[in-house]
Amino acid sequence: QTHEDAVSNPKTEEMAKNRDDGYGKYLTSNQGLRVNDDQNSLKGGERGPSLLEDFLFREKMTHFDHERIPERVVHARGVAAHGYFEAYGNATHLTKAHFLQPGVVTPVFTRFSTVAGSRGASDLARDVRGFAVKFYTQEGVYDLVGNNMPVFFIQDSIKFPDFIHAVKPEPHNEIPQGASAHDTFYDFISANPEATHMLLWAMSDRALPRSLRMMEGFGVHTFRFVNAEGKWRFVKFHWKPKLGTHSVLWDEAQQISGKDQDFHRRDLWANIEMGAYPEWELGVQVVEEEDEHKFDFDLLDATKLIPEELVPVQLIGKMVLNRNVDNYFAETEQVAFCLSHIVPGIDFSNDPLLQGRLFSYLDTQLKRLGGPNFHEIPINRSLAPVHNNQRDGHMRQTINKGQVAYGPNLLNDQYPKQAPQSEGGFSSVYERVEGPKIRRRSKSFIDFYSQARLFWNSQSEPEKAHIVKALRFELSHVQTPWIRERTLAQLTQVDHDLASRVAEGLGMDVPSTEGMQLNYGAIGADDKAADFQSAP
Ligand code: HEM
Repeated sequence: QTHEDAVSNPKTEEMAKNRDDGYGKYLTSNQGLRVNDDQNSLKGGERGPSLLEDFLFREKMTHFDHERIPERVVHARGVAAHGYFEAYGNATHLTKAHFLQPGVVTPVFTRFSTVAGSRGASDLARDVRGFAVKFYTQEGVYDLVGNNMPVFFIQDSIKFPDFIHAVKPEPHNEIPQGASAHDTFYDFISANPEATHMLLWAMSDRALPRSLRMMEGFGVHTFRFVNAEGKWRFVKFHWKPKLGTHSVLWDEAQQISGKDQDFHRRDLWANIEMGAYPEWELGVQVVEEEDEHKFDFDLLDATKLIPEELVPVQLIGKMVLNRNVDNYFAETEQVAFCLSHIVPGIDFSNDPLLQGRLFSYLDTQLKRLGGPNFHEIPINRSLAPVHNNQRDGHMRQTINKGQVAYGPNLLNDQYPKQAPQSEGGFSSVYERVEGPKIRRRSKSFIDFYSQARLFWNSQSEPEKAHIVKALRFELSHVQTPWIRERTLAQLTQVDHDLASRVAEGLGMDVPSTEGMQLNYGAIGADDKAADFQSAP
């Protein structure tokens, strides 16, 4: 038995009461009635019509008719596994989160996904990969909902519906179903320079992982760690795969997609079955509160990363995935990750992309999982006890006892009572917030190209060649000439060599950006374009 096998998993045990193995047992209806034939419907006469009386037919067919739920509006295609997280214990001075204290082992459930494709799409599409980890901590569920790239396409969550509508297949004919809808995606890119940095990541080898076991993960946003003294610091989360970061080439990706579109999920499943458990170390980049403004980018801007040369990553624990799911639908499909699943010792930042996500996940899950009680589904259930005055709703499982379902109350001695911080009560970091109510982007967000250039310059020559080839491929599938031209114009702002190498492959010249409006989105309605010309 390996060390990993030896780590008992309380979440696995907790879910046991919901597991069923019908092997060798009598077939029954949903009411427990033993059934002696579920292969022939009840008919009036040997060759006669089916009878309304046939409740067994109706039950079987109705259940089948209702067995699909909406796929996720994004990240629809995914695969997940159980495991555990073990804290190294060196982050105690940074955070009071219990699961990060010395020696604490916490069950986890981790789902990897592609973003744009539907549930039946290929694993090897050129796309960002989701990397979502649910920690079943003693203080409640904590979700770290990240991606395999450290930045994002947009800065403000209100643009997310636009961005996703540009990425998904075109609405009139649902073509193309690949990772990017070419004309619409590049139309969006060409008008939204804030997306340029992430575009280069998406065109790089990072978008074609060799295996889910071999990719990094990032929390993307800046979060906060809060320690026992109440002192907080900014943090960025990283997952570092023990197997290293590896990719396939585009030609390989296309061939694999043609032959086995389950390549990544098969690889993850098979390795876990074989006992070759994948591992990642969790790292953090920590920035003191007083250093918030010492960078030439804004920590609240999700299109920027903190270069590791400036702030090294400190490793604070490791995750091992060591058990495949018993049932894809019950676990992988019904799991609900959400940024607002937080624990004391961790807090949000004012990143406007993060703030919008805090709303979107719960909202979409209310629809996807059919109402307000999906936290009771076994895979979503907290290991920490749940007590509150929420009641009723579709599919309620908990049988709440008692006369009182409100607070404050005197009838039942304020039960359930509110927990002070010293007893694990969550409270948001104390922060003074003031300013005019205004719809616009902070000027500190208006440098769109420096980090794109940094990324381009950080690539080796073969990696640069892959980016150029990817952009040539992508743009050659854009039908509308001026979209190609405008995208090249964005690339020129990053690096002339990059733009001209892409242009050459398309048989085009690098366009002049003279008089071309490259930025439609970032200037808010409450401001004037002129104000932004002098932005840093
Ligand atoms: C899934 C919204 C940005 C990572 C989802 C889902 C929605 C959503 C609605 C489907 C959830 C479900 O049905 O359970 C948004 C919005 C964003 C945003 C509004 C920006 C404003 C991001 C970013 C990341 C990310 C920046 C990475 C840091 C994920 C992941 C999933 C997901 C990993 C899949 C979770 C799973 O495996 O079930 N997102 N997202 N999203 N999102 Fe986002």
